Amino acid sequence: MFDGKTVLTGVKPTGTPHLGNYLGAIKPAIMLGAKALEQGGKHYMFIADYHAINAEKDAAVLNQKLKEIACTYLAAGLDPLKSVFYRQSDIPEILEITTILYAYTPKGFMNKAHAYKAAVEKNRLAGKPDDDGINMGLYTYPTLMAADILSFNTDIVPVGKDQVQHVEIARDIAGAINAHYGKDLLHLPSYHVEENVAVVPGVDGRKMSKSYGNVIPLFEDDKAIKKAVFSIKTDSRPLEEPKNPDEILVYEIYKSIATPEQLQEMGDGLRQGKLGYGHIKNMLLDAVIAEIKDAREKYNYYMAHFNEVEDMLAQGALKARPTAQATLKRLKDAVFGRE
Ligand code: ADP
Ligand code: TRP
Repeated sequence: MFDGKTVLTGVKPTGTPHLGNYLGAIKPAIMLGAKALEQGGKHYMFIADYHAINAEKDAAVLNQKLKEIACTYLAAGLDPLKSVFYRQSDIPEILEITTILYAYTPKGFMNKAHAYKAAVEKNRLAGKPDDDGINMGLYTYPTLMAADILSFNTDIVPVGKDQVQHVEIARDIAGAINAHYGKDLLHLPSYHVEENVAVVPGVDGRKMSKSYGNVIPLFEDDKAIKKAVFSIKTDSRPLEEPKNPDEILVYEIYKSIATPEQLQEMGDGLRQGKLGYGHIKNMLLDAVIAEIKDAREKYNYYMAHFNEVEDMLAQGALKARPTAQATLKRLKDAVFGRE
C-alpha cells in the first residue's frame, strides 16, 4: 500500500509521553514509516512546534517538551538517516506556503474545524464568550497543517480519527488551488487511520491521558512505573475466587502489551483463581519494563546529549527544505504569474 509513496507524520510536542501515547501513537507511527521506507517510499517525520505555541507560552516548557518528544521518537526506533526528521520551525517555506493557502481557505472551514469548535464549546459550558482565550493560531491551525502536508507532496498522512478532518481540509484547499490555476501545483493527500490500534486504559479505568492524571509513565525509573502499576484499580475479592479477566483492569492494560501466550497465562490464572492482584500487577510491571527498557536507555542518552539530536534535526531540515522550496516556487510562479 505504500509502494513508492510519501508518508508524513506530524507530532505536537505536548507533555511527557506516557505508555498510552507510546503504544497508541508513537510505535505505530514509526512502524508505518518503516513500512513506507521498505516499500521504496519516503517518510517525513516532524515536530510541529509552531502548532504548539498556540497553547504553550512558556519558552522553557516548550523547549523541554520538544526535547522530550524528539528523544522519545529516536528512542522508540525512528532512524533519522532513513526518515527525514525535522522541526517545523526550521522550514520557513512552510510559513510562506501557509500564507498562500490562506487566500484559498474559506473562513467557514476554520469555523467548522474540530479544535476550534471544541474550544468554543468549552467556553460556552463555562459561561464565557465564544472566542474567549482563542487566538488566531488555534483558529487557523488547519491551514498551517495543510501547509505541513502539501509542502512535501505527501501521499499519505497517518492520523488518529480526530485529525481526519484536517487532512480533508488540506485536500480541499489543494484541490481549489489546482482547479483555479488549471494544473497540478499541489499533490492531493489522503489520510490513513490504523484501525487495530488499541486505546490503552489508565490506572483508573478511563482512557489513559495526561489530562486525567491516570498514566503509566514511559521513561521514568522502575520505582515510578511500579508505583503507577500498583495503583491500578482492583477490588477486594480473594485470590482463589475465579474471575472473568475481561472485567479486570490490569488484564485490560496487559492486552495492549503482552504476547498472546502471556495474555493466555494471565487469563487462565484469573479464571482458575490461581493468580491474585499482586501477581498480575507484577506480570504487567515486568511486561512494561521489558517493553521500554532499551528505549529508556536510549532516551536517557539522547536527553543527556541533546546536541547530537540538534545535529540530526539540522540535517533533517537540510534534507527537507529543497522539496518545500520547490513547492513554494511552483506556487509563487503561478500565483504571481511569473512563468
Ligand atoms: P493525552 O490524552 O495524554 O493528552 P494526546 O491527546 O496528546 O494524549 O495524544 C497524543 C497521541 O497519543 C494521539 O495520537 C492519541 O491518539 C494517542 N493516545 C493518547 N492516549 C492514548 C491511549 N490511552 N491509548 C492509545 N493511544 C493514545
Ligand atoms: N494536528 C496534529 C495533532 O494534533 C499534529 C500535526 C500538525 C500534524 N501538522 C501535521 C499531523 C501534519 C500530521 C500532518 O496531532
